[in-house]
Amino acid sequence: MVRLAEVTADNWYQVAKLKFADSQKGFVALNSFSLAQAHYMPHCMPLAVYDDDTLVGFCMYGLDPEDGQYWIMRLMVDEKFQSRGYGRKAMELVLGIIRKDACGHAVYLSSEPENAWGKALYESLGFIPDGRVIDGEIVYKLEY
Ligand SMILES: CC(C)(COP(=O)(O)OP(=O)(O)OC[C@H]1O[C@@H](n2cnc3c(N)ncnc32)[C@H](O)[C@@H]1OP(=O)(O)O)[C@@H](O)C(=O)NCCC(=O)NCCS
Repeated sequence: MVRLAEVTADNWYQVAKLKFADSQKGFVALNSFSLAQAHYMPHCMPLAVYDDDTLVGFCMYGLDPEDGQYWIMRLMVDEKFQSRGYGRKAMELVLGIIRKDACGHAVYLSSEPENAWGKALYESLGFIPDGRVIDGEIVYKLEY
């Protein structure tokens, strides 16, 4: 069963070592960078993605204190485990967490324009471009 779990002293090293393919460099930050970011920016919630006891990926979301909106800041699946549905399932699980906050009505993320794989995933989940481009990335919005 696919599940999201806290990043702790027991799994942070394995999370940091997860790898995307060389061709995917530039689409997402290194997990070690994201874990450092989460340490210093407490609104960032880093989560490990497991299939039963196998670590397959990483995601991070948070309520941005600057705009008061939820953002899914990171999503990656280790290259060994890609194209098996884990990215989609991880997105559904993180969206489930965000939707439980009755105060929120939308969630945002951004993606490199060349990331056709990510774009296909996000659009199939109902995300649509909101018209903004931030640091060269297309901003997507999902209302709920
Ligand atoms: C993008 C990413 C998270 C998708 O995770 P995944 O587990 O490989 O994807 P899934 O198996 O859940 O497939 C989700 C969708 O991606 C697309 N996809 C899957 N495998 C693909 C492939 N080999 N080539 C192109 N698109 C593909 C399909 O649209 C798929 O939808 P479907 O289920 O209707 O077929 C993963 O490829 C990844 O870690 N990429 C590098 C980091 C990255 O780009 N992160 C996103 C930053 S915005």
